[in-house]
Formats: sequence, structure tokens, C-alpha cells
Amino acid sequence: MSKAGALDLASGLGGKIDKTDVLSAVEKYEKYHVYYGGDEEERKSNYTDMVNKYYDLVTSFYEFGWGESFHFAPRWNGESLRESIKRHEHFLALQLGLKPGHKVLDVGCGIGGPLREIARFSSTAVKILILKRDFLQELNRIAGVDKTCNFVKADFMKMPFPDSSFDAVYAIEATCHAPDAYGCYKEIYRVLKPGQYFAAYEWCMTDSFDPNNQEHQKIKAEIEIGDGLPDIRLTRQCLEALKQAGFEVIWEKDLAVDSPVAWYLPLDKNHFSLSSFRLTAIGRFITKNMVKALEFVGFAPRGSQRVQDFLEKAAEGLVEGGRKEIFTPMYFFLARKPLSDSQ
Ligand SMILES: C[S@@+](CC[C@H](N)C(=O)[O-])C[C@H]1O[C@@H](n2cnc3c(N)ncnc32)[C@H](O)[C@@H]1O
Repeated sequence: MSKAGALDLASGLGGKIDKTDVLSAVEKYEKYHVYYGGDEEERKSNYTDMVNKYYDLVTSFYEFGWGESFHFAPRWNGESLRESIKRHEHFLALQLGLKPGHKVLDVGCGIGGPLREIARFSSTAVKILILKRDFLQELNRIAGVDKTCNFVKADFMKMPFPDSSFDAVYAIEATCHAPDAYGCYKEIYRVLKPGQYFAAYEWCMTDSFDPNNQEHQKIKAEIEIGDGLPDIRLTRQCLEALKQAGFEVIWEKDLAVDSPVAWYLPLDKNHFSLSSFRLTAIGRFITKNMVKALEFVGFAPRGSQRVQDFLEKAAEGLVEGGRKEIFTPMYFFLARKPLSDSQ
């Protein structure tokens, strides 16, 4: 769990946005979404602005609640949330067959928790692709991986790397932000060396999602506004996009299906945990009131509570989407770039 405290949360809120502009950034962000009359095409054509605003507004909340890894995990009985998150990261490293000396790309790295874990677990050099932010090398230094891991600020839809640069590529709950899965996977295909692997955890609607069901659509819209997403794709759309991009799909599975402990449990109102207290309904209620007070006395910028509100919507949408099995944050696939295009 994060060591970030309430004052870190308040002072980090808004990221690079000027503190006096946080409220207007929240309003602009909200307007992209269905809840406020926004439409999908606008979200997709302005994806950089939407995602940048989202992460500027929420990253300090994520650090406060989740720590350095911003993702869910399937979980075994008796396993802590933290242990399950690390195991989920190790699983990717094992699937990719990472070995010392490999040059690996983390697509959409957040603040780099997974890559530090994967770099230490597999003794590989990880290059991290990040949309914005530049303070993160310090975290790599503290973790002892700064000699082998470094950050590149770029958009994963157009990466500044030559063709066939990497021995492996992975993405953890990040490519769901792409305006178009095919365009994103094609770009990953380009920078991967022939014969090498790409593995990811995708956020997807499952086959149980019914687009004509109003409640399902409400849940989807809650997750989109609460998580900065242009449009959550179906698992089969991701699979199709991978193949279209040229990948051979080795295997794929919604890892939520067999998870003994539900992935959404940490956010479930009926669940209580001391070790992940800040994520629980009571923890979130306390955070909400704390943010309200900090905003009132001027420690947190105006608009902070509104950020907490759309994050609460996200939590509700995620729990309901998970419970109804219409949504998964862990659609896993392992895909290979063939040795030659004709293969
Ligand atoms: C939910 S976070 C996951 C972060 C990290 N993989 C983890 O598990 O901790 C999604 C990340 O994707 C990044 N991202 C979204 N769109 C991006 C883009 N077009 N190019 C590069 N990064 C992007 C965001 O900045 C954010 O860091």
C-alpha cells in the first residue's frame, strides 16, 4: 500500500495543471463523457487531451489508494491484494519469457510500479512509455533499477522508436485508453522484433454485455468517465484487432473467470480490509470528507471533490460490471510477431 499521505494527495492533485485551473480542467474532462452529453467520436479524436487531463487529476488519488501499481489482479484465497498484484506482474514476465539482457517496452507505465517489479524479477532492461510526467526516474533510482530502466515520454499510438527495437512488449491496463485498438497494436507490432512476444491485460466488455440493456450501458459509461476511457471494447474486438495487426495469438483468456477471489472485492461496499483500507467503502468515505475539508481550507485545489466524485462512479461501475460479469480488467493475451510477414 502507498506511503503517500493526505497532504501528498492534496498537493499532488491536478498534477501539472495549474492549481487555479483544476476546476475548469475537471469540467472539460467531464464534458467528454456520456454522463455530461459527450460522445464517443469526440473522446476518440481528443484522446490525448482527455487522458492527460484524467491522469493529471487522478494520479495522486491512485497513489494514495493503490500505491505504485495501478492495476487489478486475480487473487487466490489467503493472498493479500499486494501479493496478488505482484504475482500478476510476474505472470506477464513469465509468459513473455523475459531473460537478462532483453530490451523490454512497458506501454503506458503509470508511475512505473509494475516495471520496477518486472525489471527486478527478470533482470531485464525496461523502457517505459509514458504519456506525460518526468519525475519518475527518481523512483527507479530508489528501487535500484535506474541503470537499466528509463522513461520515454510519448504517445503509444505513434512511438519514437525504430522498427524491430524490442525483445518483448507488455501493456498493463493501459491500451484500453487507445482510441483505436488496431492502430495501437499495429504500432506495437512495428517496434517489436520478429519472432518476439507482446502480452497485455486489457479492459474489456465481455460477451455477457448487452448493448441494448440500459443498466449495462450505464455501468459502461460509469467506468468510462471514472477511468478516462474513450470506449470500452469487447474482448473479441481486441482479439480481432490483434490478428488484423499481424499478430499470431498464442493464447488468450479472461483471467477474471477463474479467480477464486473476485478482482473487484477491494472496492466492494460489503468488503472490509485493514491492509487495503483506503480502497474500501469506509476508506473512500473518509477520503471524500478529508478532500472536502482540504479543499475548503485551500490545501487542495478547487475541483478536487469533483475528481473524487467521478472516481466513486468508477468504483461503483467497476464493482457492478464485475459482479454481472459484463466487464473485465484482465483480458489476457500472449501474441507473437511472426518471423516474416508471410509466416
Ligand atoms: C491504469 S494506468 C496503468 C499504468 C501501469 N501500467 C500500471 O499498471 O501501474 C494507464 C496508463 O496508460 C497511460 N496512457 C494512456 N494513454 C496513453 C498513450 N496514448 N500513450 C502513452 N501512455 C498512455 C496513462 O498515462 C497511464 O499511465
